[in-house]
Amino acid sequence: MYKVGIDIGGTKINTGIFEKETKKLVAVKKTYVKEIKNLSQHINDVIKKMCAQNDIDPKEIISCGIGIPGTISDDGRRILKVPNIDILSDDIAKKMENDLKVPVRLVQDSRAAAWGEYLCGGGRGANGVVCVTLGTGIGIGVVVDGKIYSGALGCAGELGHLPVKENGRACGCGKTGCLEKYCAGGGLDITARELLGDDKTAAELFEEAKSGNAEAKTAIEDAVKTLGSGLVSIVNLMSPDCLLFSGGLSEQEEMYLNPVIDYIKEHCYSADKMPIIKKAELGELSPLYGTAFIPMLEKRKAILSASIMCADILNMKAALEEIKDAGIEYLHCDIMDNHFVPNLMMPMEFLNKLRDASDLPFDFHIMAENPETVIERLDLKKNDIISVHYESTVHLQKAITLIKEKGTKAAVAINPATPLNVLEEILPQLDMVLIMSVNPGFAGQKIVESSFDKIRRMRKMLEERDLCNILIQVDGNCSFENVPKMYDAGADIFVVGTSSVFKKGQTIKDGAEKLFKLL
Ligand code: DX5
Ligand code: ZN
Repeated sequence: MYKVGIDIGGTKINTGIFEKETKKLVAVKKTYVKEIKNLSQHINDVIKKMCAQNDIDPKEIISCGIGIPGTISDDGRRILKVPNIDILSDDIAKKMENDLKVPVRLVQDSRAAAWGEYLCGGGRGANGVVCVTLGTGIGIGVVVDGKIYSGALGCAGELGHLPVKENGRACGCGKTGCLEKYCAGGGLDITARELLGDDKTAAELFEEAKSGNAEAKTAIEDAVKTLGSGLVSIVNLMSPDCLLFSGGLSEQEEMYLNPVIDYIKEHCYSADKMPIIKKAELGELSPLYGTAFIPMLEKRKAILSASIMCADILNMKAALEEIKDAGIEYLHCDIMDNHFVPNLMMPMEFLNKLRDASDLPFDFHIMAENPETVIERLDLKKNDIISVHYESTVHLQKAITLIKEKGTKAAVAINPATPLNVLEEILPQLDMVLIMSVNPGFAGQKIVESSFDKIRRMRKMLEERDLCNILIQVDGNCSFENVPKMYDAGADIFVVGTSSVFKKGQTIKDGAEKLFKLL
């Protein structure tokens, strides 16, 4: 399988195709913005040509990340603010998805560069990576504890717009005197024109300084100090263990990059360790790696939990083997007391026999009043999960604490009519939330249609609280038709019963394979 990474700049577009498993770059192509009329059509054509030239089946491309020199919405779907790049339209992600038929997400290019270096370049193994892209402007991407850091309002890293000169040069951000207008490629072009003449550029400013032009040399030294002190503030604020430089201007090592690095080392605050400060390893390819492997394009793993009440009780041993062989990861054991639900099942002796007959973890679903008494009697193992219904106990926090004290994973189950906000206080203590998509107690029921939206809102609730380590399980009519919609809405674990894996006329393995293929 392959993933595409694209880096859209002011003048050029870089497109890369990567092997999904190895992250190997198998094809890369540079094209130029000025020739482009329709961006999504252009990119589509470029990818098709690259596939043909490299013997890649386009159908094996599973995602596409796009780096943009601007501010992007949290969900990676919309451009919030971008300097004037005419070919970029707000709905570029949607258009590209229609053309490519794969998930497309946008990411700010300097964050993509930082993520690419963190995954595959100079930031490998580091915990806090700051990557400074010295191009036409200055962008900074930050990776902290394995996550891209965007800041609460999504604008983290905008060092280029630090005010450094009162009533200074006008900037594309709408303000004046920004750091990048004096220290990035675009800014040094202006300095060259002011010192050497109208048609001069930053490259000639460096040439002049190298050949002894004192004014050019002083101008560059001033830029080194301004950029250096801006970056000292970043190092002192973020305390990264790795500070990397990428972008065209970082090629000016002798007169620019190295003096900036020396300035930072001399002036930044450090205790016993200094950050590693060097050129990025991947150069202009780092945003391609970062966009191709951006976390939000990594597919969420889909997990199946076999509803044992639906298995053939008289041939349970064979069923358990088939369940494991089919790649199903949990045994969903319903415990019912004929009070909380109008059904009665899974006596403890039966559950203990199951325990002896399978090494799969148990996913206990307690549909009983006073669940605490049931929890005490269960024979538990480390990877088990126990779901307790919110509606079944007034002491929910106590029940969850009891489960955690036993060293197993804890979940709260909620019935179709129970709102998500009941989870507010207990959520941070949970490993999973079980959303009942039918009224509990019986197999073979039809889904409560509002369940899809409820799953979507549950996913959003986890994302807003940065609690995406908590899994969402769905139980009830997890059919071949419903599971893909539940997955897309944000569910992770599916309780599979008579609607899919235990459907009559097929094997458990066929049912599971069919579901995995749909996800
Ligand atoms: C419902 C039960 C499940 C499940 C069975 O309380 O926990 O076992 O609904 O699967 P289906 O709904 O597919 O028969
Ligand atoms: Zn259940």
